[in-house]
Amino acid sequence: MSFLKEIQRRRTFGIISHPDAGKTTLTEKLLLFGGAIQEAGAVKSNKIKKGATSDFMEIERQRGISVATSVLAFIYKDKKINILDTPGHKDFAEDTFRTLTAVDSVIVVIDVAKGVEEQTEKLVEVCRMRKIPIIVFINKMDREGKDAFDLMDEVEQKLGLSVTPLSFPIGMGYDFKGIYNIYEKKINLYSGDNKQTVSKGVEFTDITTPELDKIIGAKSAETLREELEIVHEVYPDFDKDEYLKGNLQPVFFGSALNNFGVKELLDCFIEIAPSPQPKMSEERLVDSKEETLTGFVFKIHANMDPNHRNRIAFVKIVSGMFKRNAPYLHVRQGKKLKFSSPNAFFAEKKEIVEESYPGDIVGLPDTGHFKIGDTLTEGEQLNFKGIPSFSPEHFRYVNNADPLKAKQLFKGLDQLMDEGVAQLFTLDINGRKVVGTVGALQFEVIQYRLEHEYGAKCSYENVQVHKACWVEPENPKSEEFKEFKRVKQRYLATDKQGQLVFLADSAFSIQMTQQKYPTVKLHFTSEF
Ligand code: G4P
Repeated sequence: MSFLKEIQRRRTFGIISHPDAGKTTLTEKLLLFGGAIQEAGAVKSNKIKKGATSDFMEIERQRGISVATSVLAFIYKDKKINILDTPGHKDFAEDTFRTLTAVDSVIVVIDVAKGVEEQTEKLVEVCRMRKIPIIVFINKMDREGKDAFDLMDEVEQKLGLSVTPLSFPIGMGYDFKGIYNIYEKKINLYSGDNKQTVSKGVEFTDITTPELDKIIGAKSAETLREELEIVHEVYPDFDKDEYLKGNLQPVFFGSALNNFGVKELLDCFIEIAPSPQPKMSEERLVDSKEETLTGFVFKIHANMDPNHRNRIAFVKIVSGMFKRNAPYLHVRQGKKLKFSSPNAFFAEKKEIVEESYPGDIVGLPDTGHFKIGDTLTEGEQLNFKGIPSFSPEHFRYVNNADPLKAKQLFKGLDQLMDEGVAQLFTLDINGRKVVGTVGALQFEVIQYRLEHEYGAKCSYENVQVHKACWVEPENPKSEEFKEFKRVKQRYLATDKQGQLVFLADSAFSIQMTQQKYPTVKLHFTSEF
């Protein structure tokens, strides 16, 4: 197959949802369609289950399976589909944000009863900012839930989207009869016991036909006709270009558990979802069709085996063909590296690949060369943009609890930060280190992993920090900036990239600082 065809047939996307909306179940059903797995229950949930073990032990268990679920690839109707895993737990939102830099589109799963939940709001906001094309899947139609129109209103209001339904439910919960596929003008009937099979659609180009009454009953037929009338009046016609620009979001209804409405979703997805998109670098826009290789690291996964400190760096190929054993430039280090055993991911297996194409993810075994955000090229000086750090929510001083193991501690901290587990700030005034995390759980994870993987011990101490603000002076030589640095000395730190950060102790302090030093800009993400 030609290089261009290989690119055009790839669909790389992420499924995002609030925990429990049905992301794992939907992923699994998609894999079943691709024939990538044989039975339901094969995909392990990456949920942090509350229960017998403590949360961070659960995270460790989780980490073991998440290498396998980081990328799930399968082929469906000749399309190569790569699903990138996105943790739903809020403490790992940062991981999900980073993964979103490597997808070309997303599917958002919403629970029909719960509607739009908090985690969904945050993740969709990031997608919206990046204009990532979004498809909405409203799940659990076999249960009683909110009215379809109310739900679509909620999606528009809370998520700031403009939706148009491409399928429409006929009843719900106990009365759920099926789905009318607006896109293909077909009805799919639901029967509670066809769980893992796929029912054939009945074609209905004309919904005024009395046939419909016979099949779903006169009352349901009447309701459906009325509802479709409203759909027609209220929602815009589907327009693929608008969807691709991130201006219009199609909605599907179904029940992932019962494999209902999933095929409609998948069939439409492969038709409309974008193939690998161009990506902006600091230097220029890189098109996926360019023949020289470029790619970037969006995730680093440490191995579970503490005796081998091997890691896997996940690289999204942006352009060109990735070849095994070819020399590639690690731009940040200015070094050429060869990879003798790059991994590709298929369903749950990983295997060594000879070549990969734009849109694909390759896993490179790494002994500490890579950081999140690193770029690989064939020699060009290029740095991909778009993996900003957000201000952490929790901050603590980190102290060395075993003076003999200082070296191990620093190495461990360094590598955990490269993996993106947390952010490290060094106070300018006394060199003390402050760890910032998105969730409180990460502190335990860091402590546990330092001890088990690096043989180092750390303790924490409270520090009064409300937010990390990245500092950008309009004029670094101005008197105002000098004064800012002098007055705020106690609160200034340096992040791992060497950027200046103001660790503000309260929202009030941020406000006052902004008023007092208007030419010193404070940012809540590291990229501005
Ligand atoms: P997540 O990855 O988004 O966190 O959700 P997951 O797929 O694990 O689904 C959460 C729960 O919702 C699971 O039940 C799952 O079986 C159920 N579920 C998913 N899709 C549907 C659906 O279409 N209809 C109904 N009725 N339920 C659905 P659980 O009891 O929490 O887990 P399990 O013990 O079944 O694994």
